[in-house]
Amino acid sequence: MNKVLVLNGVNLGRLGTREPSVYGSTSYPQLAASLVARGSALGLDVEVRQTDDEAEMIGWLHESADAGTPVVLNPAAWSHYSIALRDAVAQRTAPLIEVHISNVHTREEFRHHSVVSAVATGVIAGLGVDGYRLALEHLAHGFDAQSSEAAR
Ligand code: DQA
Repeated sequence: MNKVLVLNGVNLGRLGTREPSVYGSTSYPQLAASLVARGSALGLDVEVRQTDDEAEMIGWLHESADAGTPVVLNPAAWSHYSIALRDAVAQRTAPLIEVHISNVHTREEFRHHSVVSAVATGVIAGLGVDGYRLALEHLAHGFDAQSSEAAR
């Protein structure tokens, strides 16, 4: 099965109790389990991780770059200021989809800009936790296209 990493940044482990009017009521463990299940239905081996430690996140991005593993990344607050994270994402060797649960463009001004977006393959924002599922579907589609190309 094709591997995909779903990486979640700072504070996302608190989904479910954290500002539910903004981020919804799905807990982080529920989100992780649903993405693993959705991934396996799509033929993907999905591993979901979360950290509040920026250095750990950067290590995971290096790991994905070295292994050529596609990534779904919610960089959370780091999106808005971490050049270190952006530089790690820029090293990617496979597609990387940036996901935001909330529509950052309708919120405070400091959330309108993501330093990561310019080096991501694409961005999904404002579709709730459904954004992660859509990102997995896009990546699965890419793997399918690759295998039909190889079969030709
Ligand atoms: C977020 C939006 C960020 O502005 C915020 O700091 C987060 C979550 C989202 O998923 O909507 O932690 O990335």
